[in-house]
Amino acid sequence: MTSSVMFHPCFLVASILSNYFIGLLATAASNGGFTVELIRPDSPKSPFYNANKTFTGRLNKYYPNALQSRVIAYKGQHLMKVSIGTPPVDIYGIADTGSDLVWTQCVPCDGCYNQISPIFDPLKSSTYSDFYCESEQCLLINTGTCSQNICTYTYAYADSSITKGVLAQEKVTMTSNSGQTVSLDIAFGCGHNNSGIFNDHEMGIVGLGGGSVSFVSQIGSTFGSKRFSHCLLPFGTDPSIASKISFGNGSEVVGDGVVSTPLVSKEYKTPYFVTLEGISVGDTYVPFNSLGMVSKGNMFLDSGTPPTIVPQDFYDRLAVEVQKQIAMNPIRDDPDLGTQLCYRTKSNLDGPILTVHFEGANVQLKPIHTFISPKDGVYCFAMQGSNGGGIYGNFAQANFLIGFDMETMMLSFMPTDCTKQ
Ligand SMILES: *[C@@H]1O[C@H](CO)[C@@H](O)[C@H](O)[C@H]1NC(C)=O
Ligand SMILES: *[C@@H]1O[C@H](CO)[C@@H](O)[C@H](O)[C@H]1NC(C)=O
Ligand SMILES: *[C@@H]1O[C@H](CO)[C@@H](O)[C@H](O)[C@H]1NC(C)=O
Repeated sequence: MTSSVMFHPCFLVASILSNYFIGLLATAASNGGFTVELIRPDSPKSPFYNANKTFTGRLNKYYPNALQSRVIAYKGQHLMKVSIGTPPVDIYGIADTGSDLVWTQCVPCDGCYNQISPIFDPLKSSTYSDFYCESEQCLLINTGTCSQNICTYTYAYADSSITKGVLAQEKVTMTSNSGQTVSLDIAFGCGHNNSGIFNDHEMGIVGLGGGSVSFVSQIGSTFGSKRFSHCLLPFGTDPSIASKISFGNGSEVVGDGVVSTPLVSKEYKTPYFVTLEGISVGDTYVPFNSLGMVSKGNMFLDSGTPPTIVPQDFYDRLAVEVQKQIAMNPIRDDPDLGTQLCYRTKSNLDGPILTVHFEGANVQLKPIHTFISPKDGVYCFAMQGSNGGGIYGNFAQANFLIGFDMETMMLSFMPTDCTKQ
């Protein structure tokens, strides 16, 4: 277990065996692949759109400022709709490349957090079935234990949120953007006791990590190839526009301007690890490690964490350079903002271009990626220091078509206006 595991809000603490599921049934679009939308919780397409925006729970602990955290925690996620069961029930779960399990709250609740939409009732679905303890699927989720020969699981995230329930099989139906219906059987967590910092706009999580129980691993090469890609909209984009995620054939990232970096395989399979060598602020190179030592796989990509998290020492050197290149004084007198590097400005900040130097791939970030407005007239540097490993968060991933190819073990970036996808 790496130390990075310990500070990741959307990250599994328990480890999982690394085999793949078998026995998947699926139908797919004509080229074999499929594409679905990812929406923001405040999208008009979201079932929560007309509900009161309470901003309860799921505070991103990297933002010491509660006001900022609440808004970002609420609007900073991307939700993926999966319809489960027969008749199908729409579940909007956080699309999370930083964890594996696909789960939703289920009745009867031994302990459910408040949820605006109705909670899934397995008894009302004709395709629901529990996994038995001896099933291969139960062995894959190694927190799987037995209760009257039914496979029960406990799945915890580093922010101490936890879901407990029954590992079950269900039919998942999704409508591809091409109009075709994709239908498959997956193992998912029917969570009967879920606690921690979830909010009433979250019906669960769609784990898209590399571990064996993730949605991605379960579909494997069913849709033509073991790869997926996403194009995430920048924070603050009109919420009626959707982001996209594609799986299998058709999801390859090819074309002008594509750069690629190796995905680093480690014992712990969930995170998509890459190697970050340094970041240039304008023309000034800031190395990841001041002694020049970089270990392979020092960062992982996470769609479920908004800011980018780097080791404190690197952050400090980076922030000094960023400040040097902005001809304004940072805000010092707003206790809400904690130690963050923030500026007062009416329109988007005119900050330097940051070039992220991954092994073999330079990725240019514009101020829209690196400065986020937590409240009117304030823009804050969207990177944070920590004492653990590194997370490349979803702010920095926006407006790139990012491809995760598990056959070539490469991660590719193509600058893309994701509103035009
Ligand atoms: C995926 O694409 C390849 C190459 O175009 C094709 O040979 C294969 O049949 C496709 N797979 C599916 C499941 O359609
Ligand atoms: C929203 O909050 C207001 C004031 O707190 C309350 O009157 C109203 O009933 C709430 N609406 C919903 C849909 O919960
Ligand atoms: C639910 O889980 C919590 C800890 O996560 C535990 O303390 C509690 O006893 C559980 N409740 C039931 C009814 O199983």
